[in-house]
Amino acid sequence: MATRTPLIAGNWKLHKDCAESVAFASELKAAIPADIDVDVMVAPTFTALHPVCEVVKGSPIAVGAQDMFWEAKGAWTGEISAEMIKSCGCTHVIIGHSERRQFFGETDDTVNAKLKAALAAGLVPVVCIGETDEERQAGKTFEVLETQVKNGFQGMAASELTTVVLAYEPVWAIGTGNTATPEMVQEVHAFLRKLVADSLQKELANGMRILYGGSVKSGNIAELMALEDVDGALVGGASLETESFSGIVRYK
Ligand code: G3P
Repeated sequence: MATRTPLIAGNWKLHKDCAESVAFASELKAAIPADIDVDVMVAPTFTALHPVCEVVKGSPIAVGAQDMFWEAKGAWTGEISAEMIKSCGCTHVIIGHSERRQFFGETDDTVNAKLKAALAAGLVPVVCIGETDEERQAGKTFEVLETQVKNGFQGMAASELTTVVLAYEPVWAIGTGNTATPEMVQEVHAFLRKLVADSLQKELANGMRILYGGSVKSGNIAELMALEDVDGALVGGASLETESFSGIVRYK
């Protein structure tokens, strides 16, 4: 059985300008023990990536972007490539967040293109998937997740996907205070691990970190992390304050 180092990631979304991000990152650096035995990642807005990378140097905090474009360079006004993100000092990138899917035309095909480009640049991709409330009510949760995973990973071999992190974020649980129950989370995570094992490779599935996201806070993280197939969390609202995020990171 592979050992999976937990990853606690904070997605700052459209919060904190450059100065606020830098100040917050310094606070986190001071609050998170240097010898913490979980991986920690924060995802500030693009304009704060480089300064935040500078601030957290020498700490256990890694930095990721919240999105990226799949082309490396060219006439793509307004876009940011994986290489550019890497050149800021980032090691991670979030791909396919439901807010990108819902409001900015992200599809499984664009997730697939971004995933390939992120891996080619040596970034750790955190690929987000999740069903809407309507889809869950209609009994389509597993069908939706299977499509997102299979299409998102399309054309890629298990050997290329070893660093990929999956983040299960039920859309109805994001920013609502309605965390999925531990039973729901474990059921989905076990399904995802089996899906990766059956469609790609058992070894890949055993080593793949599957995070849960959706109203995670310091009060529910321990219960979630106790689940067999939960390997970390992607945190939104509760990642924006030092006490709550460092509390989540120190969930043990
Ligand atoms: O990416 C994290 C996220 O969408 C969850 O947000 O505010 O429910 O923790 P939140």
